[in-house]
Amino acid sequence: MSNKKLLLLPGDGIGPEVMAQVKRVIDWMGKKRGIKFDVTEDLVGGAAYDKHGVPLTDATMQKAMDSDAVILGAVGGTKWDNLPFEVKPERGLLRLRKDMDLFANLRPAMVFDALVESSTLKPEVVQGLDIMIVRELTGGVYFGQPKGIETLPDGQRRGFDNQTYTTSEIVRIGRVAFELARKRGKKLCSVEKANVMMSGVLWREEMTKLGPQYPDVELSHMFADNCSMQLVRNPKQFDVIVTDNLFGDILSDTASMLTGSLGMLPSASLGAPDANGKMKAMYEPVHGSAPDIAGKDIANPMATILSFSMCLRYSFDMAAEADLIEQAAKNVLAGGLRTADIMSPGKAKVSTGVMGEALVRELDKIG
Ligand code: IPM
Ligand code: MG
Repeated sequence: MSNKKLLLLPGDGIGPEVMAQVKRVIDWMGKKRGIKFDVTEDLVGGAAYDKHGVPLTDATMQKAMDSDAVILGAVGGTKWDNLPFEVKPERGLLRLRKDMDLFANLRPAMVFDALVESSTLKPEVVQGLDIMIVRELTGGVYFGQPKGIETLPDGQRRGFDNQTYTTSEIVRIGRVAFELARKRGKKLCSVEKANVMMSGVLWREEMTKLGPQYPDVELSHMFADNCSMQLVRNPKQFDVIVTDNLFGDILSDTASMLTGSLGMLPSASLGAPDANGKMKAMYEPVHGSAPDIAGKDIANPMATILSFSMCLRYSFDMAAEADLIEQAAKNVLAGGLRTADIMSPGKAKVSTGVMGEALVRELDKIG
């Protein structure tokens, strides 16, 4: 079999620092497990804008299309805040998602036992937490047309975005969520605002119609505002949550904080398998580029390393290797090492680089 083609897009801010740690893990897989990757690296976001005047070139987009998987660091930063909307760093990321048709965004929120104390919530509320947010990623208000700012006859300006969902968009994300729930705790909560939004009414109807095809999964519905409250009140009531692009963006940030730090959360963005069973995919940490701490070697590399582990699991069917990385992460944390974002009294504060190195050493031990 030919080598697996990986495209690394470190991006902006802390992106390159955390990606450097992923490269160590990729090297380890090659040396110790004989798993060879063809690794290419390229620019996205502000970094691409600085060099090419666009946040993603057509050539890079093509490389992403041709790869087996993309690993992305983060995009954006204050430096590019005043750029025109069309060339903002975030547009690069959104184009990757849209052009690769990565409609299913899996955002797990797991509380590692060693990190129970890092959460701002009481230990009994979060201990053992393991939920999965399935966010629709290529539709809704992010991409709905028309979208713009216009000037009205009275001289006022009017900004508008459009929330739209078709049945097929809802059904395909619904199926992904039901299938995942089936492999996990068999509970699926579908989240929208059917009380005020027509797209929400349709969403609820379509999810309800899918229900009987998955009789082993218990389906419930919840309004998004209530869900944000329930996530903090009693997050363990959830197993899988399926929701639209915007609500998924917001609720996954909330869920991330249950775990103590955004710095721990990976994600997978998946397309539909083609006729040959090949699926486009991109893996990225849920956190952003954190320009305030960029270049200081203090960012937490775990979210990006765990994103690589999701890549092994979902794109390459290498569950054993994925488990190995997750176990190594657990062990390193249990051993007391902490980056600044998850630091607590009595633990050893380490840099991005030292954390990455410790993880690889742990892989040496257990792999
Ligand atoms: C995310 C981010 C992005 C989003 C931004 C950077 C465009 O917040 O992946 O959650 O809103 O989807
Ligand atoms: Mg977000």
